[in-house]
Amino acid sequence: VTPAHSGLREHLLLLGRFLRRPRRVGAVAPSSQALARAMVHGLDFGEAARVVELGPGTGAFTGAIVRGVGPRGRVLAVEIEPVFVRQIAQRWPSVECVCASAEALESLVAERELLPVDHIVSGLPFASLPGAMTRQILDGIARVLRPGGTFTTFQYVHAYVLPPAIAFRRDMHARFGAPPMRRLVIPNIPPAWVLRWTR
Ligand SMILES: C[S@@+](CC[C@H](N)C(=O)[O-])C[C@H]1O[C@@H](n2cnc3c(N)ncnc32)[C@H](O)[C@@H]1O
Repeated sequence: VTPAHSGLREHLLLLGRFLRRPRRVGAVAPSSQALARAMVHGLDFGEAARVVELGPGTGAFTGAIVRGVGPRGRVLAVEIEPVFVRQIAQRWPSVECVCASAEALESLVAERELLPVDHIVSGLPFASLPGAMTRQILDGIARVLRPGGTFTTFQYVHAYVLPPAIAFRRDMHARFGAPPMRRLVIPNIPPAWVLRWTR
């Protein structure tokens, strides 16, 4: 990853979209490389993993995913903002980046013969998305993951104890039957908990 990947341009791009659509974008700055490393840490990419990234934004996690997956794997990124889709497509030509809502995850994955998915890495701001949208996305996630597949997301430390974050974890616990593996990442603005559920 070159310094430009977390550079001024990405900050301004994300901030600009945040000012227009704060609940959908959910962050004023791209995630740090420390958070990106923690998001993929310990994932078994094997020989030809199928990985989906939800809400890549300016690509804070995408480079780490691409490096982990290697040349024989496949990465599908699902992003709702066209300007971010263009950015991802330009920077990582090997990533198939589709401009769509993650609510359509199941059909997006099926159409591309990516079933079952090994890992889903999410940057979606679940705490600020409408509840019905979150539930539909989580339904899709549970349906496309292979047994043993993982879903990794993060929650900011300051919001971790607030009702939307607690409700999200409760919902996930009910769906996956267990609490997540947790890892605290301090070098991020703001610090965040990485949460991972295994199906
Ligand atoms: C908090 S930003 C995260 C960006 C990047 N992953 C990072 O950590 O810096 C959330 C991203 O999710 C995207 N997003 C929000 N709702 C979405 C949806 N329903 N489907 C796909 N992408 C969505 C936003 O456009 C934004 O790029």
